[in-house]
Amino acid sequence: MPYSLYHHNTFGIHATCDGFAEYHSQEECLQLAEQLRQSQQAWLPIGRGSNLLFVAPHYAGYIVHNAIKGIECMEESNDEVVVRIGGGEIWDNVVEHCVEQGWYGLENLSLIPGEVGAAAVQNIGAYGEEVGIHIVRVEGVYVLPEVKAATIERDACQYAYRSSIFKHDLKDVFLVTHVWLRLSKNFVPKLTHKAIVSRLAGKGITPQEVTATELRRSIIEIRQEKLPDPEVTGNAGSFFMNPVVPEALADSIRAQYPDLPCYPCPSDTEEGYVKIPAAWLIEKCGWKGKSLGPAGVNPLQPLVLTNNGTATGADIVALANAIQHDVKQKFSIELHPEVRYIS
Ligand code: EPU
Repeated sequence: MPYSLYHHNTFGIHATCDGFAEYHSQEECLQLAEQLRQSQQAWLPIGRGSNLLFVAPHYAGYIVHNAIKGIECMEESNDEVVVRIGGGEIWDNVVEHCVEQGWYGLENLSLIPGEVGAAAVQNIGAYGEEVGIHIVRVEGVYVLPEVKAATIERDACQYAYRSSIFKHDLKDVFLVTHVWLRLSKNFVPKLTHKAIVSRLAGKGITPQEVTATELRRSIIEIRQEKLPDPEVTGNAGSFFMNPVVPEALADSIRAQYPDLPCYPCPSDTEEGYVKIPAAWLIEKCGWKGKSLGPAGVNPLQPLVLTNNGTATGADIVALANAIQHDVKQKFSIELHPEVRYIS
């Protein structure tokens, strides 16, 4: 009997899979890993399904969900704490809890959908902050080549823009159980994004007087205004990554479009490259607010593709392909999905 994945993907796609399994502890994860190793079936770990797209109507394999809860303080000094978090915790609940406890550093990542395990896998980021900066280690279980518990220390996690070892070498072999984060007891707001500073200014709050609670509240407001609520309109946040291109290419585009926005690249990128907002490219190709069948481009933030009610995975892919084609044609830039395609 196929298992419905409708409630396991924020795109609201009516896909099915062969079966669904959850683990609530490291012990259960080890047992499940042994079953997966012995079966010849494919398997896919998911969090809240907020960054994937079921392309085919049926996924021939098992969906595996980390349901481990808990936030424990493992180390504490005058300045810092190290917390160990079950990978099944809802990410934003963790941010809220940490701000309440006076453990700072995650405020800018408020209201990002999904769970802690997935956050560590895909190195979630927003407003100049990335979770990888705070990760101390990731605990989990190898399914292959043989079942064993393991801890991956931060230096081995290979964190980069929306990327980690868990999306590459450890893909399809490792299940996350817990994530350890180092947080500060001294609040230093990260205000690199103009949108945040102007939102605070609108409330009469200067960068010197902002509290962590107010910063979190402002980021929640900005996100709620700009990003569609998946409970109402199916979506998976940013659909594409922001492309990193040679400066020379950006210069040649700027000759024609003086308003081209450019941002510095993550520190691990080679020199001579800049990041261009995919949203701008999509808008310039005329896709903002447009639809292709039942799949749409959000009118406020064109980086977000939406299921306008009845879309299948194939409908969303058709729209994504059309956008990629047009951006390539007009700007010679390839957009790469941030959302993971599952077929
Ligand atoms: N822009 C346009 N037209 C628009 C909207 C935006 O041209 O209609 C341009 C503007 O130049 C704007 C720039 O895009 O300044 C950047 O927009 P924004 O600050 O909204 O961020 P983003 O680059 O589109 C990234 C992340 C988001 C994260 C925001 C805020 C990626 C793929 N996306 O989006 O993450 O919330 O920054 O930091 O890096 C997600 O991963 O799902 C996600 C929402």
